[in-house]
Amino acid sequence: MKEIINVEMRTRQADPDKIGTDLLAVGLFSDVKGLDKLNAELNRNLDGAMERLITLGDFKGKEGTNAIIYSDSKIGAKRLMLVGLGEKKKATLDTVRKAAANAANKAVATNIPSVSLALHRAFGGRFDLSAMGRAMAEGAYFGGYRYDEYVTESEQPRLESLKVEVVDAEPAKTRELDAGVANGVIIGLAQSYARTLTNRPANVISPAELAATAKELTRNMKNLSCTVLDDEQLAAQGMGGLLAVGSGSGNKPRLIVLRYNPAGKTAISPRPRGGGTSATGAEAKLPKIALVGKAITFDSGGISIKPAADMDEMKLDKTGGIAVLSTMKALAELKPALNVLGIIPSAENLPSGTSYRPGDIITTYSGKTVEVLNTDAEGRMILCDALAYAVKQKCDIIIDIATLTGACMVALGTYMAGLFGNDEKLLKQLQRAAEESGEKVWPMPSTDEYAAEMKSKIADLKNIGSKWGGACTGAAFLRQFVGDAKWAHLDIAGVDIFKTATEYTAEGSSGFGVRLLTTYLMELASKGS
Ligand code: BES
Ligand code: MN
Ligand code: ZN
Repeated sequence: MKEIINVEMRTRQADPDKIGTDLLAVGLFSDVKGLDKLNAELNRNLDGAMERLITLGDFKGKEGTNAIIYSDSKIGAKRLMLVGLGEKKKATLDTVRKAAANAANKAVATNIPSVSLALHRAFGGRFDLSAMGRAMAEGAYFGGYRYDEYVTESEQPRLESLKVEVVDAEPAKTRELDAGVANGVIIGLAQSYARTLTNRPANVISPAELAATAKELTRNMKNLSCTVLDDEQLAAQGMGGLLAVGSGSGNKPRLIVLRYNPAGKTAISPRPRGGGTSATGAEAKLPKIALVGKAITFDSGGISIKPAADMDEMKLDKTGGIAVLSTMKALAELKPALNVLGIIPSAENLPSGTSYRPGDIITTYSGKTVEVLNTDAEGRMILCDALAYAVKQKCDIIIDIATLTGACMVALGTYMAGLFGNDEKLLKQLQRAAEESGEKVWPMPSTDEYAAEMKSKIADLKNIGSKWGGACTGAAFLRQFVGDAKWAHLDIAGVDIFKTATEYTAEGSSGFGVRLLTTYLMELASKGS
């Protein structure tokens, strides 16, 4: 099996004009007349080549475009890439991220092994340098990513590694950029890790294999631990929802629980004289957050089987769970002052002689009973147990992330995730994190009207509502299981996949959620609540 492309990232203090590199990337807005300082200097050294390209109309600065000038040793770089940034007034941090992704994507596509980024220069003081450093690093990982582990015969060789550096001539600016790049590397690597795990097919990643991967990830980590409940332990705990969904497959379900704790799992708190243990004071006061992610390793629909077309995409039904796993990986390296539980219910939804059936009544972990009217509404059946588990662990804030409903995709398309919840402040914080991370969300309702549709005559709840508002009834179902906790639900059906390659990245898993959740948590840790 092939290793995925190794993106190596660093920051370097050097004059962009002079550095020896395979490719130097600079940004240009579509609506800014004249060249900024760096671009004017590069243009002068290139005897006006940049200006000619622009006046001839071959490059307009449109977002998602780029143009290459071959420099013929007039500047240090072999190639100068102009990256379009779109309209200046619309620019966000995601513009910086996408520009870096565009450059890295192009470098991989054309086998250019080293890239220098001076994209931040076009933005002046609009965003702080550390935020732009982070965005460029995240973008480089995103754009340089390819999934080809199982390709053994290909016409074109591809890069084994891509070297990316962020360059600035000034030492103080380089230092600021570097602080952001360091975090961006952690987050970018975590997102690529998510994409690879998610892209792996269901014959490779079963619930047990996902659990083994989580165990392996945390093996030598001091601040991140992992416990796994197997099907027997799930039965002993009464996790009826997760067991029901997993009952049709020979690959048995698992509940994966990751615990991030800044002081480390090996830290032993002093035993008070009276006996018993107690958490150390400072740590006990940190907010306790649960991230809950749906990890259906394959969703055939079960007895309520799905149509054959595009069913292969249902290997991506584990995206939410893997976003949680990968966010926990990033946290262990970023080390924010928070207590975070990552809860990942994992099962394979298949039809067989042992499957759960339409009409079954399942007693879930919370004690609530659910009448199954469609075995394809399985996400909520496993999430309800995981949410109840988070409540039992006394989490103050619970955020779940799941490829839950095709209806969410009908409502919002493939550009943003549905955001639901019961706490305005939490929703606002997630919306802010979405803007910053470029993983977009849109607010959706899960109010009592929707919950009313989920009442069953012969059990507490049923697992589907009417024909309409399926994303909202799905969310309203989950809402019944979060008790008094502050809760948000991200429906990521539609944003989990790029069906075709874009200017910014290859097709397949998007790794959605890693940047959003990490950004939210880092913000939360820096603000205190
Ligand atoms: N995993 C699917 C939702 C999905 C669909 C994700 C398309 C990504 C792309 C989920 O388990 C599902 O099948 N939901 C059903 C719910 C319905 C039976 C109430 C759906 O959306 O049809
Ligand atoms: Mn389903
Ligand atoms: Zn599903």
